[in-house]
Amino acid sequence: MAVKYIIDGGQKLEGEVDITGAKNATWKLMVAATLTDEEVTITNAARVLDVDIAAEIITSLGGTVTWVGKNTVKVCGKGINSYVVDEKFAAASRASLLFLGPLLYRFGKADIPLPGGDRIGHRPIDRHIEAFQALGVFFNKTDNRVTASTKGLKEALYKFSKNTHTGTENILIAASVTAGQTIIQNAALEPEVDNLILLLNKMGSKIVRAGRTIEIQGSDNLKGAEVEVIADRNQVVTFACAALVTNGSIVVKNVIETHLTAFLEKLTVIGAGWDWLDGDNGKKHLKIYLKSGLKPLDIETEVYPGFMSDWQALWAVVMTQAQGDSIIHERIFENRFAYTEILKKMGAKIELFNPKVSNPDQFYNFNSEDIKTGYRAVRISGPTQLHGIDYEVDDLRAGATIVLAALAASGVSTITGVDQIERGYQDFETKLELLGARIRVE
Ligand code: EPU
Repeated sequence: MAVKYIIDGGQKLEGEVDITGAKNATWKLMVAATLTDEEVTITNAARVLDVDIAAEIITSLGGTVTWVGKNTVKVCGKGINSYVVDEKFAAASRASLLFLGPLLYRFGKADIPLPGGDRIGHRPIDRHIEAFQALGVFFNKTDNRVTASTKGLKEALYKFSKNTHTGTENILIAASVTAGQTIIQNAALEPEVDNLILLLNKMGSKIVRAGRTIEIQGSDNLKGAEVEVIADRNQVVTFACAALVTNGSIVVKNVIETHLTAFLEKLTVIGAGWDWLDGDNGKKHLKIYLKSGLKPLDIETEVYPGFMSDWQALWAVVMTQAQGDSIIHERIFENRFAYTEILKKMGAKIELFNPKVSNPDQFYNFNSEDIKTGYRAVRISGPTQLHGIDYEVDDLRAGATIVLAALAASGVSTITGVDQIERGYQDFETKLELLGARIRVE
């Protein structure tokens, strides 16, 4: 595993790049696969650290995970003989939380460490807990663990108070083995949720979505199935932004058009070029390039189908190259601007501030008590010439962002802790190198 990237910036990135399936779909499909004793095959899987962690949890519980190709994995829940997820999995990912459903189904109880994950804010799990309580689950929470128990999962009508992407998936997994009909209202619209619904339906549950309402007819006899992971919209946006900040031209292969609408709308407004090309098996390739100077733009992050929170840091690097002032207003996470300190050290002109918002509780997706500190917006003044930096990565999306900035910068950057980046991007440095980046791995 790579420890450090040494990047000599200022090189145009040009050519074609393959992406994998979304990591945030892959590992959740693997968790759902443990609801049956039969084998589930997942193709176009992302082989990244977060996925390896989910695999390790499954094997530590007694299940099996077998890679049968670079991006195909087979999961089998037969043999799962423990309801306790080891403490060692707490810090690495939110993965353990998603095992609540399969473990409650198999054992009537689950004992899991509290999630760590990205350092992007406080990230409470109250919405998950409340939804499971509606399904008849009791919780006992200590500082760093949650024990859950049930006398039997029961159907429910549950409305999420606010959007939660993983919370929706967590309940979907549990409800798909709950007798009767569970209805989730104000459910998340993120495409990874639909990928999960696809697998659960193939396994034998009957799930129907009508917008933000999802009806689940559970089954206690789910079967093996095969499913393809959706193309990762975060990887698409990463390479698109890399093309723009290096004045290059990149074709990202086999993407899903509808997942990128919000991003492409913004590209049009800032004056960037993009075209659809025919891809493989009816899919599309997306070409992104600079036409002339980039215009500034104010954006707000939103839940799907809006401009995704995961894209804003990458977008900030693009806006350092636009002619004028741009604002990014983060509505999903209360603390996702740590990366701006590093961009500033690289020469970016960025100011943090809190815009006036008339109804913060409705406007922001995080809980209102989490609003007390920190900043929700940045103003970026461009264009600026970035220069190289020494940086230690502490968050996946922020790490990818500093890599982009380093590719655009003059001079050499040394980026350590790149295992954080490899949590989300398979063969990242190899792909960048093939596109012409001067990147060395140590
Ligand atoms: N929230 C709560 N209580 C909860 C759940 C969420 O207060 O019980 C708050 C969160 O702290 C956040 C907001 O509500 O401020 C939205 O959280 P949500 O549950 O929707 O996000 P998530 O499921 O934790 C997923 C992805 C993130 C991605 C967001 C937004 C996974 C594992 N994570 O987070 O991806 O940014 O949705 O689309 O799917 C990443 O890949 O690096 C990453 C952080």
